[in-house]
Parts: sequence; C-alpha cells; structure tokens
Amino acid sequence: MKKSKLLVFSLVASLVLMAFATVSTAGPIVIKFSHVVAENTPKGQMANKFKELVEKSLPGKVEVEVFPNSQLFGDNKVLEAMLLGDVQLAAPSLSKFEKYTKCLQLYDLPFLLQNMKAVSTFQNGPFGQKMLMSMKDKGLIGLGYLHNGLKQLSSNSPLRVPADAQNKKFRIMGSDVLAAQFEAVGAMPLKKPFSEVFTLLQTKAIDGQENTWSNIYSKKFYEVQPYITESNHGVLDYMVVTSAEFWMGLPEDIRSGIKKALDEAIAYGNEISYEKSVEDRQKIIDSKRSEVIELTDAERQLWVEAMKPVWKKFENEIGKDNIDAAIAANK
Ligand code: LMR
Repeated sequence: MKKSKLLVFSLVASLVLMAFATVSTAGPIVIKFSHVVAENTPKGQMANKFKELVEKSLPGKVEVEVFPNSQLFGDNKVLEAMLLGDVQLAAPSLSKFEKYTKCLQLYDLPFLLQNMKAVSTFQNGPFGQKMLMSMKDKGLIGLGYLHNGLKQLSSNSPLRVPADAQNKKFRIMGSDVLAAQFEAVGAMPLKKPFSEVFTLLQTKAIDGQENTWSNIYSKKFYEVQPYITESNHGVLDYMVVTSAEFWMGLPEDIRSGIKKALDEAIAYGNEISYEKSVEDRQKIIDSKRSEVIELTDAERQLWVEAMKPVWKKFENEIGKDNIDAAIAANK
C-alpha cells in the first residue's frame, strides 16, 4: 500500500473506532425541559409527568431534567437556546413565537376562539395541525399543543368597560397582536418577560396584566392586583417544541418512545387544565385579596367591539383561511 493510501486508511479506521467508543460509552440522552411557570400549573404538571413517563418507559436511555420558574431560560431566550442545543424541550405560550412564524398570532386575536372546546377543535383540525410544522424551516418542530386556559384582565383599578383601561400600562407577552389589542382600548402595552411581572405589579411600574387563573394564582399576581375582570377575552395555550436537529438526530425507537410519553403527558396536562382554572379562580376569591369582577353581557360586548378591529389588521399575516377555520371551530 502506498504511503498516502495507508495514511487515509488509518485515519478512517481511527475515526470509526472513535465513533464506536463514543456510542458505547455514551450515557443516556439528556432532555432539558425549560419552562417559566410554577410546578402547580398545567404546564408544570405536564413537564413533571413527561419526565416520570419517559424515564419509566426508556429506563437508562433517556433522562429528563425539568427547569421550572425561568430557572434555566426566560421566555425571551429559550428558543434561541434550543437552536443552539442548550435545551431540548420547551412549551412557550403561542404568543411567543412571533419571530419564527406569523400564523400562530391567530391565537392572540381577541374574542376569536370562544372557549377551550373551540380551541381544542381548532388545534386538532387540519389548520391547527399544519401550524405545528410552521417553524420547520427555522429549525423548530411543534410536537403538540398544551392548554392553559382563557385570559383575564387584572388591574389596580376596576375594569368594567374599555374606557376604564385608557392610559393604563399593561404588561403583555412579546406579541404585536396583544399590543394592538391593548392599543385598541387606549391602553399602553409593555412587552416584558413573565419572570418580571410580579415585581412590575408590586412596584406599580405597570397597572395591570392579562393572564390565566392558574398563572395569576401560582405567581401571586392576585396579591398585588386588587381587581380581576373575568373577561375571557383570549386564549393562553402552549406549543411543545423541540429543535429539528435534535429530534431528527434521535434513533427511531427512542424518538417514538419520547413522542408516546409526551402525548400522554400532554393529554394529562390538558385534562387537568380546566379543573385547575376553576380551582385557582376560587382560591383567589376565597383569599379576599382581589375582587373578581363579572361583566354583564352589555359590558362584555363593549370590549368585543373595541378590540375586534385587531382581526382585520393582522388578517394578511395570519391568513384569512386560518381565521375562518377558527371561527368555524366555535360552532
Ligand atoms: C406569560 O408570559 O404570561 C405566559 O406565557 C407564561 C406561561 O408560560 O404560561
């Protein structure tokens, strides 16, 4: 054998040996699941359930590390971190993907999906399912939807009609649709990470915020917000996402085992989400720290009318066909 051929041969042989050594000594696949909410929420419970299920079904092969409460990454950073391979699973709210896709802005349109049954119908239908793959070209794959619930408006002064929100500062998630929603009632929206909301409310740097019963309860927003208007004006749900590179790089059997555990954990999270919202609403009422304001039909209608023009504004970005499918899901 010529000297150069010998060199190539030994190089290839040592690469093969190195690869073999890596595989045979490699430990379990570690999945870091980062999220921003407390553990006693639908997302917190779903993440813990996923860990339990996958470690049981793939013992020694897959390990899950769950990081709640923005311990690892806040909501502004987690998707960038995922694309860099620093975290493998996350379930940001559907309002937090704007940089990666515009179609998910649909879920932020105020008063579009009227209840959680309609949300499920839309998500399980062809338009909702297609959206799971809407960020594939950016390197992100949606593995499923997870419910939290409908959003309420909390504030340091009572909000009954849209004029009550005028000139008030509201924290919003990083979504232009949510900004337009508050601007439509003359309020001032501020995009801020979830981890900062309590302090912003407590120090009165902002007047209010919108969130679900479980987030308002578990993050104690009700302790620093004397009024919560039961507006049910929008939905706060999640997409469980992973990076395409990580997902496609998994051995087939491991990938299907992980997906099975994830589907079960999501079903569990969805099952408890409604109960949790009812329970947490009641706990807030019982605490007497915050008054829950129920709107009359006429008052609610004023909010609908004030916010509805937002649909038209984002129709081109979101797609009329998607909006029509969401309207149909209400029936
Ligand atoms: C928020 O930022 O208000 C929510 O997205 C938090 C969450 O993940 O439920």
